[in-house]
Amino acid sequence: MKRRRIKKQVYILGVILILFIVSTIFGIRYLIYRGTNAYQLKQLGYQKDDIAIIEKLEKEQIQQILKMEYNAFIPKLLKEKYYIFENLERYLTYQNKEKDNDLTHVVSMVNVGADHDYYEEEFVAPTKTDLKNEYLILVNKFHYLGEKFSPEDLVSIKNWYAYGENEIRKEVYDQFLMMFRDAEKEGLKLIITSAYRDYAFQESLWNRYKNEKGEEWADSVAARAGYSEHQTGLTLDIITDGEYKTMDTFEQSDEFKWLSKNAHKYGFILRYPKGKEDITGYDYESWHYRYVGKEVASKIYNLGITYDEYYAYYKDEIEG
Ligand code: DAL
Ligand code: ZN
Repeated sequence: MKRRRIKKQVYILGVILILFIVSTIFGIRYLIYRGTNAYQLKQLGYQKDDIAIIEKLEKEQIQQILKMEYNAFIPKLLKEKYYIFENLERYLTYQNKEKDNDLTHVVSMVNVGADHDYYEEEFVAPTKTDLKNEYLILVNKFHYLGEKFSPEDLVSIKNWYAYGENEIRKEVYDQFLMMFRDAEKEGLKLIITSAYRDYAFQESLWNRYKNEKGEEWADSVAARAGYSEHQTGLTLDIITDGEYKTMDTFEQSDEFKWLSKNAHKYGFILRYPKGKEDITGYDYESWHYRYVGKEVASKIYNLGITYDEYYAYYKDEIEG
């Protein structure tokens, strides 16, 4: 009898011990879980899939999200190809202000600075154009070139290739000549109608447009002085002769079709594409080609993005 009772007591003790161990393990595990990012993100309202995306970020970035209110757009933005973490708050602000649910567009607009007003003093000043970039200088409505900038290796363009007197940087001219000859082999004629333009020239051009049709229109078709790519000596306006001689009709020419497929092979990109007006800040220009070198031109061509977007995303690589 006594032995059986002892056996029973040992059995009960064993069960209690096991229960204790099991609950301690679960308790500790729960306490550990409560300390995890996953738990805290869940408490904020994020679902399993969102948490998996957020957890891939760096530690400090996760902490930053934990300090913010729940926002269903955050995990969605993190899935965008060109999102830049440091712009996260600006994406959310822009999305909310514009009620823009196309997050690819939101990311592009903010990355290029278009969540600010064009030429906004406070924003433009620190984003001043990095002039170390040789052929990759970025100039747009948020990147100011300055009054004095002028490239050192300008060469004259022979009249054969251009309407009127023009100058352009040597490398750009060399590449244009190769492009010209290859196009010529296919019976096409590329003619330069504008190339390097200095500050004063751009100023009078913009003023002329402004006087013709007002400031808003002038801003959509021409850069203000100090903000034009033409001042870099890296840009060519290319048209042709004959039926599609004008800028407005150039798009319908075979020369334009040829450039659309081939310009990048010589280092040129179409700088202001159709449908990207709010990103570049300018109306579509089928004639405006910017030299960035073959490697970058091919990348941009394949990615199908504007130079503004490309520069924003690869800024560290470009500026070194
Ligand atoms: N037409 C381009 C935007 C310029 O004026 O530089
Ligand atoms: Zn142009």
